[in-house]
Amino acid sequence: MATKTSKSCLLLSLVLLVSNCMQLQYYCVHAKPQVACFIIFGGSISDVGNNNNLITTVKSNYRPYGIDFARGPTGRFTNGRTVVDILAQLLEFEGFIPPFANIPGNILDFEGVNYASGGAGIRPESGKHRGDNIDLRRQIINHKIITYPKIVALRGGWEKANEYLSKCLYHVNIGSSDYINNYFLPQIYPTSQQFTLDQYADDLIARLSQNIQDLQDVGARKFALVGLGRLGCTPFARLTNGSCDERLNVASSIFNVKLRTLVDQLNNNLSPINNSNFIFVNTTALRLTSSQAQGFTVTNASCCPTRRGSTLCDPNQTPCNNRSQYVYWDGIRPSDSINQIIAKLQYNGSNPAFTYPRNIKNLIQS
Ligand SMILES: *[C@@H]1O[C@H](CO)[C@@H](O)[C@H](O)[C@H]1NC(C)=O
Ligand SMILES: *[C@@H]1O[C@H](CO)[C@@H](O)[C@H](O)[C@H]1NC(C)=O
Ligand SMILES: *[C@@H]1O[C@H](CO)[C@@H](O)[C@H](O)[C@H]1NC(C)=O
Ligand SMILES: *[C@@H]1O[C@H](CO)[C@@H](O)[C@H](O)[C@H]1NC(C)=O
Ligand SMILES: *[C@@H]1O[C@H](CO)[C@@H](O)[C@H](O)[C@H]1NC(C)=O
Repeated sequence: MATKTSKSCLLLSLVLLVSNCMQLQYYCVHAKPQVACFIIFGGSISDVGNNNNLITTVKSNYRPYGIDFARGPTGRFTNGRTVVDILAQLLEFEGFIPPFANIPGNILDFEGVNYASGGAGIRPESGKHRGDNIDLRRQIINHKIITYPKIVALRGGWEKANEYLSKCLYHVNIGSSDYINNYFLPQIYPTSQQFTLDQYADDLIARLSQNIQDLQDVGARKFALVGLGRLGCTPFARLTNGSCDERLNVASSIFNVKLRTLVDQLNNNLSPINNSNFIFVNTTALRLTSSQAQGFTVTNASCCPTRRGSTLCDPNQTPCNNRSQYVYWDGIRPSDSINQIIAKLQYNGSNPAFTYPRNIKNLIQS
């Protein structure tokens, strides 16, 4: 495929005059990305602007968000790029993967879409006390009933569409909100009275698994499923609790163990049948090299000041001077600097505890 495309590029370069090189560039774009397309589901860590027009207080399209991003505040919940933005660069896409909210009705080309929505959880009610969000179920439905028919039209039939979509990377990073904005808010949500932590994680994983099966019905085969970070040691949790809140850390590790088990089950049961492939990303296995660790001098506080009880940057306050010294940009979301390290490790890191059982580069080549 790659050889064929570069041959046709070569042919084009012989045929076209130098003055047509803009056009030439256009024709060669398709040879570049390492996957056919990149499709993203998730919460605020992956959101690139889907909440901007929702009625919610969970938004980030104001300063100081985007302070290190060329386009300024866009609805990314960080100072610069999200992990999925950097992954798109590592996968050699020309630009960032656009938010679903900005995809026009008629598409002439497709290289991916990002459905992630700040505050969204696996359970539909998670985070809704803050206003609307596009929970995982709705993200999947948007993909199936809005985007998929466009791709079918573009590729000329569902068989060709499914064949194309089987070569795309699906990245799913969701679940924090089901704890922070649901289970651990007993004054608003009843789930902690209804479920033990173990039962709750089972419920979340069952729903996640159902959604993944639904994606498989529309061609999806290569999945990176990202686990939860140490939710109890975020600046937000530390401010609320005074120190790390171990209950949250226990909750996230229970979820992570079950997510890894799901990845094993899917790889064992589905891979032989339909060639699908799954990886689990264990964010808590992140280990910095000593020089990286020296650079990140602040791991327990956010770069932008946040209001008590909120994870979001206060719009009226000046952030820290040197963003690259901070692991956390706001109360729970990582800075561009640490996102660079996380994205590179997801892409081609060699620690099997971090990318289990393989990294994204191996996943997309499988
Ligand atoms: C902080 O977390 C611990 C458990 O990790 C809990 O026992 C304690 O009540 C929490 N403190 C506050 C102020 O929430
Ligand atoms: C994730 O990594 C941490 C740190 O290496 C480890 O303690 C934990 O068991 C891992 N979790 C899973 C589900 O593999
Ligand atoms: C910002 O922090 C980084 C990492 O600690 C350091 O390498 C860099 O020199 C700092 N920049 C400034 C302007 O202080
Ligand atoms: C973070 O750690 C530093 C150094 O250990 C300490 O001085 C500071 O008070 C801590 N900040 C927060 C918000 O916990
Ligand atoms: C990972 O990919 C980057 C960018 O393509 C490359 O520079 C680096 O050498 C790779 N590292 C490994 C361990 O393959």
